[in-house]
Parts: sequence; structure tokens; C-alpha cells
Amino acid sequence: MDNLNLALRLILSFNLLLLLPCCCCCCSVAPPLPILPLPNAFQIQWQLSHMSLFFHFGLNTFTGQEWGSGHVHPSLFNPTNLNATHWIHLAKLNGFNRVILTAKHHDGFCLWPSQYTNYSVRSSPWKAGTGDVLADLSAAAKLAGVDLGIYLSPWDRHEHCYGDTLLYNQFYLAQMTELLTRYGEIKDVFLDGAKGEGEKDMEYFFHTWFSLIHQLQPAAIIFSDAGPDTRWVGNELGLGASTCWSIYNSTLTPIGGIYNDPRYAAEGDPAGHEWVPALCDVSIRPGWFWHPSELPKSAINLLEIYYKSVGRNCHLLLNVPPNSSGLISPEDIQVLQEFTQLRRSIFSNNFAINALLQASSTRGEGGGTCDSQFSPYNVLKEGIYTYWAPEEYQLRWILYIDLQELVSFNVLQLQEPIQMGQRVSEFHLEALHLDGVWKRVTNGTTIGYQRLLLFPKVKSQHLKLVIDKSRADPLISYLGIYMDPVTIWSSIYDDTVLTSHFNATQVIHIITQDNSPTATILEL
Ligand SMILES: *[C@@H]1O[C@H](CO)[C@@H](O)[C@H](O)[C@H]1NC(C)=O
Ligand SMILES: *[C@@H]1O[C@H](CO)[C@@H](O)[C@H](O)[C@H]1NC(C)=O
Ligand SMILES: *[C@@H]1O[C@H](CO)[C@@H](O)[C@H](O)[C@H]1NC(C)=O
Ligand SMILES: *[C@@H]1O[C@H](CO)[C@@H](O)[C@H](O)[C@H]1NC(C)=O
Ligand SMILES: *[C@@H]1O[C@H](CO)[C@@H](O)[C@H](O)[C@H]1NC(C)=O
Ligand SMILES: *[C@@H]1O[C@H](CO)[C@@H](O)[C@H](O)[C@H]1NC(C)=O
Repeated sequence: MDNLNLALRLILSFNLLLLLPCCCCCCSVAPPLPILPLPNAFQIQWQLSHMSLFFHFGLNTFTGQEWGSGHVHPSLFNPTNLNATHWIHLAKLNGFNRVILTAKHHDGFCLWPSQYTNYSVRSSPWKAGTGDVLADLSAAAKLAGVDLGIYLSPWDRHEHCYGDTLLYNQFYLAQMTELLTRYGEIKDVFLDGAKGEGEKDMEYFFHTWFSLIHQLQPAAIIFSDAGPDTRWVGNELGLGASTCWSIYNSTLTPIGGIYNDPRYAAEGDPAGHEWVPALCDVSIRPGWFWHPSELPKSAINLLEIYYKSVGRNCHLLLNVPPNSSGLISPEDIQVLQEFTQLRRSIFSNNFAINALLQASSTRGEGGGTCDSQFSPYNVLKEGIYTYWAPEEYQLRWILYIDLQELVSFNVLQLQEPIQMGQRVSEFHLEALHLDGVWKRVTNGTTIGYQRLLLFPKVKSQHLKLVIDKSRADPLISYLGIYMDPVTIWSSIYDDTVLTSHFNATQVIHIITQDNSPTATILEL
């Protein structure tokens, strides 16, 4: 019996050996070493989602104020048709998989029935005091698979104990605990350092808050001026810097204080030892709260903000404030839809998708002929988990792109596999001129999770992506080549103004007719 078993086992294992596919051992090469610092899993998720919607809502929605005094009577809060499902549908339809609600703004009014104050929805006529905006939003978000975040203003102009450092910090932690234990998973906690200087001043125990948040919601991304998980880019225009490292030293930036070095906050620090990517916040309207007299920005403005935030290695937090009916206004809905259509019409058509690619070198391919796991063709696969890697110790890092036909384009998209650290610090794109001369089309510094570069329209078949400088062997996970018929190229170089050159009717025309009124045309 024993012998038979042994024989069987021998036969089986022999068969197993024979059946094993002869794996391509010659190509098996160790992946490159990651370069520190690295993002954690939640920071990667956050970065992959590109954009979040912010909902500023509260008593200010009914009073026309931006910073309520804290003395407005809760009886004014009465949204007649509040429908959180409507807010969430709008987010999801337009590509926002995360939302953040102002659970409490500076006026201290709470959109949930806090047990620590009566200055809340409980004292309002809305649903006869039985309503809970956060509960509605969390239920709708959960159903739609959208991640929920909260903003709990540190500054509280209503609460009596505000100004008493110890008491108020305890009060704040108690309210934070309500928010993080009653509404399921909370994926974002947005903090600012706003204070009542001139009214009452006090110290905020940020590090105690951070540890409570991470204790109660380990998956939550905490945003503040200086991390710990994401950092503020330094303006409320939604504009990232054209050099943007997710690498940072958070101790160099105060939370809520005056930035000693605004450029440091915007650009990050290639020598930093923490992963703290940048967030760009901006409102679709002039104010953060809904006011009947204000109108939203145009879709072209939003697209420009998109290039300067998501296209500069940042996450875009776009505020779309619900109106006093408790719904998103029709004009904001229209702009959001146009913004989505513009993005779709531009970025769904990657001219490089069928390109022939060659690299100056490919990791593990020294002399081999079999398919490499680090092939340049990986840059045509969506996502950051497949990438081109060059051989070690190279003097040149180049990707040759043959589009297989003459193509007109004006946008370059690049991505790095950030789970391996952020590397590239200088790159450029060249195109082959019809007379056989290579000309520089555009150049940039950092790439990070995603870089979008706009340039005057180019017509060419052969391109060369050259990485000029990198902290370690450069790794590229995505390359896209697109045509954007609407954005004015020169506006990309102006960080202070947003220029809208097309009205809404024209935008619709461009979306539906695929018209191409490009402002600056440089035919190579
Ligand atoms: C709330 O909004 C959703 C999505 O727009 C809609 O399907 C639903 O009918 C609305 N509910 C009410 C009560 O209007
Ligand atoms: C809220 O109001 C009720 C009824 O007036 C009162 O008993 C309670 O102490 C108040 N709570 C707070 C936190 O002020
Ligand atoms: C950030 O921290 C690292 C490591 O401590 C240090 O080498 C680097 O110089 C710091 N950056 C700045 C701008 O001080
Ligand atoms: C709020 O938006 C809805 C459409 O979503 C609209 O029907 C309603 O009139 C708006 N309310 C106000 C006060 O403008
Ligand atoms: C691009 O190249 C130009 C000309 O060489 C240079 O002045 C500019 O600083 C470069 N820009 C970036 C972002 O590297
Ligand atoms: C928008 O542009 C179109 C085409 O140029 C023009 O006919 C129309 O009058 C413009 N509308 C407004 C409101 O300016």
C-alpha cells in the first residue's frame, strides 16, 4: 500500500512537472526597487479617484452669508425638497466618486442632531426637527457606492466654550466622534485651521484630532494645510503648480497659520520624507454657499481648472453648493454635464492607442527576445500597475512612438506608477517635422500620478518622449495623446485668471459637432 502510494505520488509529481508550462525564465527579472517615500493604500485610492465634490450647505444657504455669525436662528433652516440622492446621482453621473459635506461650518450650525449643542437641524422646522442631513447623505452615498467625507469646522462662532482651549478641544473631539461613529464609513475628513482671531483665539490640538480620526476611521484621508494624508495647494482657485511633488515635509508648514513659503506648499519637496499629495479646492460659483444672485463658472473654466489640478498631480475638490430648496440648481447641473461631456470627448480618443512603441531600453530585455513584463507597450494599458521600466544604469531614457498615421493633437497625458514612488523631475516631447527634423513640442518637470500638458496643435506621426531627469530609473505607466478643440493654449500659462472664450451655446456645438476652433496652431 505504502509503496503503491509512493509510486503514485512519484508519477503524479512527475506529471506535474511535465504539465508545468515552461515559463519564460529568461525574462523573469526583479522589478525595480521602489523609491521612498511611498503612498499608503488609502492615498492611492484617493489619487485614483481624481476628483471629489464638496457640498457647502447650512444656515448660510438661507441667509446669503458666507461666514454666518453664529447668531442666526435655526428656524431659518428649511429646505423644502432636500434630496441627498439627487446630490449623489449628480456626483456619480459626472465622475465624482467621493463627496464631502460641511457638517458644521464656522457659524456652528450642525447638519446632524448633535447631542452637544442645540444649534442644529433639531431646532429647525425641517422635518419638524427630526431630520439629519448627514444620515440622508450617507444612506444615498452608500447605495450608490460613493465615498463620504465630512468637514467639521474647528472655528465655531456659536459655541460658548469656543476660546477655552481645553474645553473646546474636548467638545470638538466629542462632535467628531459623533460624526465618525454614527454614519458608517467616512473616507475623508477635511480640516482647516480657521480661527476667530479678533473675536476669540485658542489653540487646536491637531495631533490629538488626527489620532482620534485614524482610530475611529482607519481608512479616512485627513486633509489639512499640512497633511497628514493630503495637503492644501495654497489657493482656493483650484490651481496646482506646474511642478508638483507628492513628497513633502509636513512640519515645515503650519496648519492655519501664514505660510512662510507658499511655493513649498504648492510644489512639494523632492527631498521630503513623507507622502502628502496636494489637493486643489475651488467653488463652481463665486461663493462657497449658494446665493440666488450668483452664477456658476462655465464648463470651459472647469476644464481649465481640471488641466491645472488633476493634470498637475493634484486631486480636485469641486464645491457645488445645494440651493435653499435642498437641490443642486439647474444651471450648476448643466455646467457639470458640459464639463463631463468635454472631458469625455477629449480624453476618450487616445491617438496613441494603436501606436508602435520602442524604448531606448527595457528592463530585463538585455539580449532576450521574449515579451517583457516591463515592455513599453504597458504605457498603453490603463492604470498604474503596469509600466515601462528601462534597463538600469542608462544614460538616456526615451520612448519612440509611431502613431502609424499623421495626427493633429495638442495634449499629452503621462502617469507614473506612484506605488513605486514619484521619480521624474524633467521630461520633454519631440515630434518629427515633415522635413525630417525633430522639434520640441512641450516640456515639463514632474509627472506624478498624472500630468496633462497642453500645447499649440501639432501634426505628426513620429514622437519621442524623453525623460531628462529622474530621482531613480523613470517608470511610465500611461501615455495619452489627444486633441482638445476648446481650451486656449495660452491660458494654461496664466495661473491667476481663468479665460473663457466660448459661451455655453458654442460649447454644446463643439461637443456635438466635434468642431476644432483651436486658437494657436503650430503645424510642424
Ligand atoms: C430624489 O432624487 C432622485 C435622483 O435624482 C430621484 O430619482 C428621486 O425621485 C428624488 N426623490 C424625490 C422624493 O423627489
Ligand atoms: C437642548 O435643549 C434642551 C431643551 O431645552 C435642554 O434640556 C438641553 O440641555 C439642551 N442641550 C444642550 C446641549 O444645550
Ligand atoms: C525634508 O526632510 C528631509 C529629511 O529629513 C531633509 O533631507 C530635507 O532637507 C527636508 N527639506 C527641507 C526643504 O528642509
Ligand atoms: C433648486 O434647484 C432645483 C433644481 O434642481 C430647482 O427646481 C429649484 O427651483 C431651485 N431652488 C431655488 C430656490 O432656486
Ligand atoms: C521648458 O523649456 C524651456 C526652454 O528650454 C525652459 O525655459 C522652461 O523652463 C522649460 N519648462 C519646464 C517646465 O521645464
Ligand atoms: C454664443 O456664441 C454664438 C456663436 O458665436 C452666438 O451666435 C451667440 O449669440 C452667443 N451667445 C451669447 C449669449 O453670447
